[in-house]
Amino acid sequence: MQIISGFSKMSKLEKLDYLSKFLGDPEKIKERFKDFWHQDLDQQKVFDDFSENTLTNYFFPYGVMPNLLLNNKTYCVPMVIEESSVVAAAANAANFWLKRGGVKSEVISTQKVGQVHFSWQGEKDELFSLFKIWKRELMDKVLPLTHTMRNRGGGLLDLILKETGPEDPSLYQLFVTFETCDAMGANFINTVLEALARELVNLNKQIEIIMAILSNYTPNCLVRSFVECRVEDLVDPKLGLSSEKFIYKFNQALKISHMDTYRATTHNKGIFNGIDAVILATGNDFRAVESCGHAYASREGRYKGLSELSLKDGKFKFSLEMPLSLGTVGGLTSLHPLAKTSLELLGHPSAKELMMIASSVGLLQNFAAIKSLVTSGIQKGHMKMHLLNILNQLDATEEEHERVKNHFCDKVISFKDVRDYLRTIH
Ligand code: MEV
Repeated sequence: MQIISGFSKMSKLEKLDYLSKFLGDPEKIKERFKDFWHQDLDQQKVFDDFSENTLTNYFFPYGVMPNLLLNNKTYCVPMVIEESSVVAAAANAANFWLKRGGVKSEVISTQKVGQVHFSWQGEKDELFSLFKIWKRELMDKVLPLTHTMRNRGGGLLDLILKETGPEDPSLYQLFVTFETCDAMGANFINTVLEALARELVNLNKQIEIIMAILSNYTPNCLVRSFVECRVEDLVDPKLGLSSEKFIYKFNQALKISHMDTYRATTHNKGIFNGIDAVILATGNDFRAVESCGHAYASREGRYKGLSELSLKDGKFKFSLEMPLSLGTVGGLTSLHPLAKTSLELLGHPSAKELMMIASSVGLLQNFAAIKSLVTSGIQKGHMKMHLLNILNQLDATEEEHERVKNHFCDKVISFKDVRDYLRTIH
């Protein structure tokens, strides 16, 4: 591909013409891109404007996990994810816990964070005593910007001065905390931070601003969810293990996720399989949620699995505590038609309610993964779903689907074996 200037100035059709010239069959490729355009061109324009240089839309499955019993209320949770078996596993776990009291969840805190990083070549003590005078003035100066948010019950909570670290003693930061109510609040926070940065320089010209930006690490925007039942109530013939053996292996799996980074990463990936799917379906920012979750998993200086198991007084209590900074108003939540529908499906939740829903799905997803890992193994369920993808790839008919599924119900599945079997039945 050649270097090109002015690409972003081209119309969408010009971009397609230009790019398809480099591809095998230009007309076919252009049609492929166009096939995925929304039939309503006004709607397509909304999608185009989410990003730059948009050529088409990229489809992902939108599924639901019914029967989430959370704090005695039932939800049908939308999940957008391409990985086979994630929704099925979560739905299984939701049904398992539906019969055992469901999930309990609570929001512990909802504080967001922003930073204005700057350098100061003078004495540290002088800066800290000046800040005592500046603090009120800085907070007052941004009051007009926080007016609407204050009316909703949020706003700027506090502003403190911090040294950034011993590696460079000239670096300081305004560490700013916010409450953004039902909004994720990124635009609001960044606007206030940039205004604070301008005011800071006005107060003292010796200050050089490096940058002003929200932090995606929000350890005080925390939600905790758990499932709990008596040990004997865990009995389930489908486990294929006694409940004692199941609990023993489950507990060991949790211990391993706290001891070993390789396992912890996969353990947490399983949690995010569920959380990200809800985040995507509701138009939230999954990159922000992921980076925050992984930083939180390392808060004690070692990366660990995020969930915990307690076995006390004859009770099995499996819990997940993690930060989740989410919004149910503004941004994509009100622009993407399916994000809006997802929120409608969930009964127009507040941001706090959505935090509890997403964390419950993460917990159930993690339960489902560990449950299969310590019993049948993950491949059984996974390959059953994967078989569908293989059959679709091979353009199998309905009848072939059935025959292949019956044939492979007790066999290890591979692409080659499925293809070879299909050949034998023709
Ligand atoms: C696969 O996407 C997720 C799992 O690997 C999670 C886990 O191992 O806990 C099954």
